[in-house]
Amino acid sequence: MSKIAVVYWSGTGNTELMANCIAEGAKDGGAEVDVVNVTGADDFTPEQFGGYDVVAFGCSSQGTEQLEEDAFEPMFTALEESLSGRKIALFGSFGWGDGQWMRDWAERCKAAKATLFDDGLTINETPNDEGQENCRDLGKELAKW
Ligand SMILES: Cc1cc2nc3c(=O)[nH]c(=O)nc-3n(C[C@H](O)[C@H](O)[C@H](O)COP(=O)(O)O)c2cc1C
Repeated sequence: MSKIAVVYWSGTGNTELMANCIAEGAKDGGAEVDVVNVTGADDFTPEQFGGYDVVAFGCSSQGTEQLEEDAFEPMFTALEESLSGRKIALFGSFGWGDGQWMRDWAERCKAAKATLFDDGLTINETPNDEGQENCRDLGKELAKW
């Protein structure tokens, strides 16, 4: 059975809803799933990262097309050296932009030689029914990856 972590930061609940749907899909797909809400830089350590087959990282677009800077960014920076060869997926909600934060994030992961599931699942503001279904589908795909 594949062991998956869904590790996210969310300010108003939009990325959190994505995370919960991804986790639901992954469980339906037969994976063992842990969901981690990152509220501090130490909430998901490199040691924890090592315990999973696949990790889905989620963070909404904050700042100016950036990851959230107080908790998620330092948490992710601390993992960056451990990304090489690891299976990860990215997701998150955005607002008025065009998804640049996700393109930058995916490039950063590729530069660190992570094995990215795709270029990241993005949803504008609150996921509607179709968006939630897309998140469940991603979770199912990750379970059999
Ligand atoms: C401080 C702040 C900065 C933001 N910066 C951007 C941005 O650069 N580009 C963008 O598309 N949306 C931006 N947004 C909008 C959020 O990404 C959007 O509302 C998203 O749905 C929030 O998801 P969350 O509830 O998971 O945090 C920003 C929101 C806040 C509060």
